[in-house]
Amino acid sequence: MKGVVLAGGLGTRLFPLTKVTNKHLLPIYNKPMIYYPIEKLVEAGITDILLVTGGNSAGEFLRLMGNGKEFGLKHINYTYQEGEGGIAEALGLAEHFAGGDLITVILGDNIIEGNIHKAVEDFKRQKVGAKIFLKEVSDPERFGVAVLDGDKVIRIDEKPKKPATNYAVIGIYMYDGEVFDIVRTLKPSDRGELEITDVNNAYIERGTMTYEIIDGWWTDAGTFASLLRANTLVARRHGIE
Ligand code: G1P
Repeated sequence: MKGVVLAGGLGTRLFPLTKVTNKHLLPIYNKPMIYYPIEKLVEAGITDILLVTGGNSAGEFLRLMGNGKEFGLKHINYTYQEGEGGIAEALGLAEHFAGGDLITVILGDNIIEGNIHKAVEDFKRQKVGAKIFLKEVSDPERFGVAVLDGDKVIRIDEKPKKPATNYAVIGIYMYDGEVFDIVRTLKPSDRGELEITDVNNAYIERGTMTYEIIDGWWTDAGTFASLLRANTLVARRHGIE
């Protein structure tokens, strides 16, 4: 299993905080945001990691993380996304790195309390298809929203005005090597991006998508409110109220 961290984009929802720097370099309590998804991968035993960045200050990731010594790594792979093509386009840049292996993809602004070790082992046994992770939230209209029927996901609606459920699709995804063929079939959405939700819906149509509801808290950090929330949740873990 290899890991891909997506840390591109212009972070426009956080302007002017992201006017000169990359969103994923902003602080979450005592560390830059990007540390958290990388730590999650390493904690789950994934040490072959690609960071896809883009937008402002892309070179600063290299200065910050180098070869990943601080994370117990010997090497980190980096690549650059030009423009604002969306999460699925950024993922497409990982094809050569993945080399047909299973991958765990984490959005660089997603922070979870728990760990994904067991999920990684489950997906290795699943071998084909994809796996997504869900969390019940009070503001599902901000996210991809999963519609469920027992142990099956029927579909995912991206930022629906009237969400069918409260289950947000969090920014951690597991895919087999077919994901890159799927990315090639995508058309840009109304916001002009290749959507990760379209990738996930393609797996649902093929009948090879599984899901898990995660324990512990989860937050993104791409808006002022969620950035503050992420800081508060991590600070509390350090005993700061
Ligand atoms: C993206 C995805 C969305 C997912 C969210 C998780 O949203 O499009 O499906 O629920 O990440 O953080 P975005 O951050 O692009 O608004």
